[in-house]
Amino acid sequence: MMYFIYILRLHFFGCFKKNLSVDKINLKKCDRGVDLLQFRIKRLPKRTMMNEKISGLLKYPAIALLFLLSLTSFAQEISKDAAVIKAGEDLFNGNCKSCHRVKQKLVGPALAGVYDRTPSIAWIKDWVRNSAKVIASGDKYAVQLYADYNKSQMTAFTSYTDDQIMSILAYVKAEADKPDAPAAGAQTAGGAGAAQPGVPDGYMDAILVGMIIILILMVVILGLITNALKKYLNDKQLDEADKQVVNNPYTLSSFMRSPGFIFLMIFLVAAITFKTVIDGLYSIGVQQGYQPKQPIAFSHKLHAGAYEINCVYCHTGATKGKQANIPSPNICMNCHSQIKQESPEIQKIYAAIGYDVKTASYTGKQKPIEWVRIHNLPDLAYFNHSQHYNVAGVKCQTCHGPIEEMDVVKQYSLLTMGWCIDCHRKTDVNTDGNAYYDKLVELHNAQKGKGSKMKVEDIGGLECSKCHY
Ligand code: HEC
Ligand code: HEC
Ligand code: HEC
Ligand code: HEC
Ligand code: HEC
Ligand code: HEC
Repeated sequence: MMYFIYILRLHFFGCFKKNLSVDKINLKKCDRGVDLLQFRIKRLPKRTMMNEKISGLLKYPAIALLFLLSLTSFAQEISKDAAVIKAGEDLFNGNCKSCHRVKQKLVGPALAGVYDRTPSIAWIKDWVRNSAKVIASGDKYAVQLYADYNKSQMTAFTSYTDDQIMSILAYVKAEADKPDAPAAGAQTAGGAGAAQPGVPDGYMDAILVGMIIILILMVVILGLITNALKKYLNDKQLDEADKQVVNNPYTLSSFMRSPGFIFLMIFLVAAITFKTVIDGLYSIGVQQGYQPKQPIAFSHKLHAGAYEINCVYCHTGATKGKQANIPSPNICMNCHSQIKQESPEIQKIYAAIGYDVKTASYTGKQKPIEWVRIHNLPDLAYFNHSQHYNVAGVKCQTCHGPIEEMDVVKQYSLLTMGWCIDCHRKTDVNTDGNAYYDKLVELHNAQKGKGSKMKVEDIGGLECSKCHY
C-alpha cells in the first residue's frame, strides 16, 4: 500500500511518464521530494521494486488520498528551502557546532548523512531532545553510538520543536551536498592565522628595505655631487674668503658641539619625558592591554577561533544578566572528560573538580581554578552584559576585541567612563522587532523628525544614575 502511494506521488509530481517502471534511475530524474523517496524505496523488498506498472485506474482517487497523506508525511521530508536552511544554520552554529561539524568528527560524529544512517527521522528528533532517554530505552543503535563515543553525553535540547530539528537537518544536508571547498576552513590554530586577507607582512618589509636602500643611494649621490662641485670650484680662481667657504671643514663632531644641536636635543628629551608623565597620569587605573598569565593554558584562539565554539556556550551569563561569567570546570568537562586526557593542562581541570580519569569517578577533593580576572570596573559603576549583547545586539568583539585570535586574553578597550559615553553617543538603539521601543521611536520621530536615528544617548544612556548606583 505505502509503495503505491509513493509511486502515485511521483506520478503527481510528473517524475516519470506512464508505464515507466520505478527504479532508482528514474527517481533521480525527479528532483522534488525524491531523497526521502529513495530512502523509503531502498527499504522495500526487492520483489516490489522491479517492474511495477502503475495502474491508470487507481490514479485519480488515489491522488486525493495522497494529498491528505502528504500533509502528515511531508513533515518528515528534509527541506531545501533557503529560509529553512538559514534557520537551521543559526541553530546549528549556536547549539551544535561546539561538538559537531557537518563533515568532520569532533566531539560527536560528523552529521552529514545522519538522516540515512540513523533508524529514522523520528529517532533523530527523540535523540536531539533527550539522547539519554533514547539510550536508556535500550535502543540498539543508540547504545552502540554512545559506546563508540566513549559514553560522552550529548546535551539535551528538550524544548526543540519538530520544525527546529528539521531545519537543522536541512542545513546539514545542504552543507553535506556542497562540493568540498579547496581550503576547508581553519582546522588548526596555526592555519587560522595564516588564512588572513590583506597585505602580507613580507611585502611591507620589502617596501621598507627598498626605501632605505634608495635613501642611502641618494646620500651617496649627493656626496659625489658635492665632491665634484668642490673640485670644480677649487680649480677656479677664487679669493681666500670664498675658498674657506668651499672647503669648510664641516665634521660630525663640530656639528654635535654646536649650540643649535645641543638645544634641539635638550628640547626633545624634555618633550618626551613630559608626554610620558602626562600619559601616565591619564592612565592611572586604566588597564588597557592587561594580560596576566592564567593558571591553565586555556587558549581562546584554539577554542573560539579554530574550533569555533560559541562565546556564550562557555560565558553563559552574557545572555542572562549582568555578568558574562567564567565557565565552571563542568563546562570544560563536556568535552575534556574525553579530549586530551593525558595533557598536564587538562589534568589541572580534573584536579580542580576532583575527577579521577582512570576510574571515571569523583574523589570529592576539589581545588578551584584561580583564574585571574582581567576586566574589572570599579564598584561605583554598573554594567550589564545581557543589555548590551541580547537587547542591543552588540558583538562581544566590539568591546573585547578579537578574542578568538588571542592565546592569552588581554583587555582590549579602555573601560573608562569616557569610553562608555562615547559609544552611547554614537550608537543607534537596536529597535528592530523590539515592541518595547515602539512608543519611544514614535516619540523620537515626532520630536526630531523621521529618519533621524535614535541613539543610546536619546534613551537616557548619558544619565549618571543609569551607570552609577
Ligand atoms: C556537548 C556536545 C554535543 C552537543 C552540544 C551536541 N551534540 Fe550531538 N552528539 C554528541 C555526541 C558525543 C554524540 C555521540 C553519541 C553520544 O556519545 O552520546 C552525538 C550524537 C548526535 C547524533 C547522532 C549521530 C549519529 O551518527 O547517529 C545526532 C543526530 C546529533 N548528535 C545531533 C545534534 C544536534 C542537532 C545538536 C544541536 C542541536 C547536537 N547534536 C549538539 C555531542 C553533542
Ligand atoms: C571553551 C570555553 C570558552 C569559550 C568558547 C570562550 N571563552 Fe572566554 N574565557 C574562558 C575561560 C576559561 C576564561 C578565563 C581564562 C582566561 O582569561 O583565558 C575566559 C576569559 C574571557 C575573558 C576575560 C575575562 C576577564 O577575566 O575579564 C573575556 C573577555 C572572554 N573570555 C571573552 C570571550 C569571547 C568574546 C569569546 C568568543 C569569541 C569567548 N570568550 C569564548 C572560556 C571560554
Ligand atoms: C566543546 C568542546 C570543548 C570545551 C567545552 C572545552 N574544550 Fe578545551 N579543547 C577542545 C579541543 C577540541 C581541544 C584540542 C585538542 C587537541 O589539540 O587535540 C582542546 C584543547 C584544550 C587545551 C590544550 C591541551 C593541550 O595540552 O594541548 C586546554 C588547556 C583546554 N582545552 C582547556 C579547556 C578548558 C579550561 C575548558 C573549560 C573552560 C575547555 N578546554 C573547554 C575542546 C573543548
Ligand atoms: C558593551 C561592551 C561589552 C560587550 C558587548 C561585551 N562585554 Fe564583556 N565586559 C565588558 C565590561 C565593561 C566588563 C567589565 C564588567 C565589570 O567589571 O563589571 C566585561 C567583563 C567580561 C568578562 C569578565 C567578568 C564577567 O563579567 O563575568 C567576561 C568573561 C566577558 N566580559 C565576556 C563577554 C562575552 C563572552 C561577550 C559577548 C557575549 C561580552 N563580554 C560582551 C564589556 C562588554
Ligand atoms: C559598543 C557600544 C557600547 C559601549 C562601549 C557601552 N555601551 Fe552601554 N549601551 C549600548 C547600547 C547600544 C545600549 C542600548 C541598549 C538598549 O537598547 O537597551 C546601551 C545601554 C546601556 C545602559 C542602559 C541605558 C538605558 O537607558 O536603559 C546602561 C546602564 C549602559 N549601557 C551602561 C554602559 C556602561 C557602564 C558602559 C561602559 C563600561 C557601556 N554601557 C558601554 C552600547 C554601548
Ligand atoms: C554610560 C555609563 C556612565 C554614565 C552615563 C556616567 N558614568 Fe560615571 N563612570 C562610568 C564608569 C564605567 C566609571 C569607571 C571608570 C573608570 O574606572 O575609569 C565611571 C566613573 C565615574 C567617577 C569616578 C571617576 C574616578 O576617577 O574614579 C565619577 C565621579 C563619575 N563617574 C561621575 C559621573 C557623573 C556625575 C555622571 C553624570 C553626569 C556619570 N558619571 C555618568 C560610567 C558612566
